[in-house]
Amino acid sequence: MKKLLLKGGYVVDPSSNLKGKLDVLIQGGKVVKIEKNINAHDAEILNVEGKIIAPAFVDIHTHLRDPGHIYKEDMLSGSKSAVAGGYTALLCMPNTSPPIDSPETASYIREKSTRLSLCEIFPAGTLTLGRKGEKLSDFYSLKEAGCLAFTDDGSTLRNSDLMKKALEVCSELKVPVMNHCEDPVLAKGEVNEGEISALLGIKGRHSSAEEIMIARDCILAYHTGGHLHIQHISTSLAVEIVKFFKEKGTNLSCEVNPYHLVFTEREILRSGAQAKVNPPFRKEKDREKLLEALAEGIIDCIATDHAPHHTSEKGLVEKSLPGMISLQTALPIMLQLVREKIITLERMIELMSVNPAKIIGLAERTIAVNSRADIVVFDPEKEWILCEDSNFSKSKNTPLWNKELKGKVIYTLKEGKIVFRDPQ
Ligand code: DOR
Repeated sequence: MKKLLLKGGYVVDPSSNLKGKLDVLIQGGKVVKIEKNINAHDAEILNVEGKIIAPAFVDIHTHLRDPGHIYKEDMLSGSKSAVAGGYTALLCMPNTSPPIDSPETASYIREKSTRLSLCEIFPAGTLTLGRKGEKLSDFYSLKEAGCLAFTDDGSTLRNSDLMKKALEVCSELKVPVMNHCEDPVLAKGEVNEGEISALLGIKGRHSSAEEIMIARDCILAYHTGGHLHIQHISTSLAVEIVKFFKEKGTNLSCEVNPYHLVFTEREILRSGAQAKVNPPFRKEKDREKLLEALAEGIIDCIATDHAPHHTSEKGLVEKSLPGMISLQTALPIMLQLVREKIITLERMIELMSVNPAKIIGLAERTIAVNSRADIVVFDPEKEWILCEDSNFSKSKNTPLWNKELKGKVIYTLKEGKIVFRDPQ
């Protein structure tokens, strides 16, 4: 493979504490030199003056809808969206059809990911067979087939005995149990329960549905020692609960979806069904607490919860499916928080790259000599619009559709190979 030289960019690598205007030389899929003013006449030179060079992002919460619902997304369109968003590794959720509850389905994901060779895709296996909440999956064979975590995402595992056993077994296997925390009996509405649900006359999902499940799962993780990863945290009290159990030394990590950091329950008034997601957007005080927790380190990572749905599934709020596409919008949203000085650029990269890799046990994400060249190059100032021309997903369900965004991926490199190049 030809040498590649990233010239004139600004390297930000929280893993090695590297920060500065440096050139990066890549050969054989690895970083071979990081220095000021490298000259390599035999290399393809990418002029990245004024751009940020960072370890490529990792998303540990992606819905690729493959197998089963490929009219919404498939592994190819999902991979293209991922690399356009700066990601080179994804953990795909198992609420597919069939669900990822057998080694055969897990192997299908791994093999197709290798064949496509754009973005590495790892399956999350289901916690229970068929995601029915009745019988635990065979974690051993699923892990052997490539699953890096277990979750019934989309649904909550309500049976506390099964949750406890799952944490015990997964602790032996050294893989995280991820839970979509919303008590299904309480969480029956369409939007956050509060004045907006009352105003619209729509049944709401109360924040306590999430907080109760998070508290239960933290207690079980505390007693079993198993690694609990809380998916898409969204309320202020939930943050307090996580903080309390982290201080007690519980084996605990948690993620937030970028949209929950910029939208509140009021977004449903502006964007209708496009703003419907589970758990729902909450109140301003919840959003502020999430931002605080992000900066303080209580929240460990950003996870997109990229959830494509067809236009026909996003009509009336009450009748539509929850979720929004987000692989291409995560970076602009996070850069907005950097501009607002809520987090630093280094912290953003830690949240999108270093920490999520750690949570699912991938090799350290870093830009160092001999490290694998999985690299994102982005322009934090570039303005663009997410529309038919720029979107790679098969779906377009997002409140940010046709909106101007700031911050754009220019190149994504996987093992030293350019897997995305900004057409402009
Ligand atoms: O809004 C959501 N959509 N939340 C989930 O947990 C599942 C997801 C989906 O699969 O559409």
